[in-house]
Amino acid sequence: TKDWNGIEQIVLRNPQGASAKVSLHGGQVISWRNERGEELLFTSSKAIFKPPKAMRGGIPICFPQFGNCGSLEQHGFARNKIWVVDDDPPPLPANDSNGKSFVDLLLKPSEEDLKFWPHSFEFRLRVGLGTDGNLTLISRIRNVNGKPFSFSFAYHSYLSVSDISEVRIEGLETMDYFDNLFKRERFTEQGDAITFEAEIDRVYLSSPNCVAVLDHERKRTYVIKKEGLPDVVVWNPWDKKSKAMADLGDDEYKQMLCVDGAAIEKPITLKPGEEWTGRLEIAVVPSSFCSED
Ligand code: BG6
Repeated sequence: TKDWNGIEQIVLRNPQGASAKVSLHGGQVISWRNERGEELLFTSSKAIFKPPKAMRGGIPICFPQFGNCGSLEQHGFARNKIWVVDDDPPPLPANDSNGKSFVDLLLKPSEEDLKFWPHSFEFRLRVGLGTDGNLTLISRIRNVNGKPFSFSFAYHSYLSVSDISEVRIEGLETMDYFDNLFKRERFTEQGDAITFEAEIDRVYLSSPNCVAVLDHERKRTYVIKKEGLPDVVVWNPWDKKSKAMADLGDDEYKQMLCVDGAAIEKPITLKPGEEWTGRLEIAVVPSSFCSED
């Protein structure tokens, strides 16, 4: 299918009726529905589906920079670019494609991009939808440059929640975090699950590879599993910031929570010819659940 700007979108479906939609604009997942057709990712009613900006919702990809600590535009350029479908991607381990419906996308820097970030790379993204309805994103970034380069990365995942005040995150208790609202100072989370009553903008460091977001009212839990992504960003703009954002409704902050698998504190460095893989899998289950693996 194509969107209003003629940009291709790929729809994945599983036999049970779950679906996911990926846009070539940013390689962004813009919808993920369970078998009952319920949307699991947040998209703002004021979202602008028009390049060059990423639309507010779904899962934009932050690369090669997270946030604004660097010389590039906020969250890097990958989310603003038009990707292509990769018809012949190098193989992934068999268990990553088993029974899945998936699409492979590719981003390479243009001449223009190289002026701002002079590093040749190949960024391969596989978005998969399992027979269980789970959403998987696998990013492979290869250095095809003569020199090493470093980058930071995040899957900026906008989860759809019933009411932010009914939501809690489990798995980040006792973790250290950088607080973007306090000059990126380092703090330590105290014992309990994280709940929300004000703006939050944090990067939890070296977190476990499974984090759960529990939506009490909907009796729905997002189980986020990640590999190669040590950090977790937790963001909600709350009322004041929402009002200042043209592409977010004033009260919509209540229906969203960003919980990102990320690599931020320690940037990834790739030598010439090296490749990095960052994998995220999101499942939705009726209650809290992180298996031991
Ligand atoms: C968060 C950042 O992850 O993304 C915030 O920590 C930022 O500081 C937010 O406001 C949204 O960014 P953007 O560029 O998509 O509006």
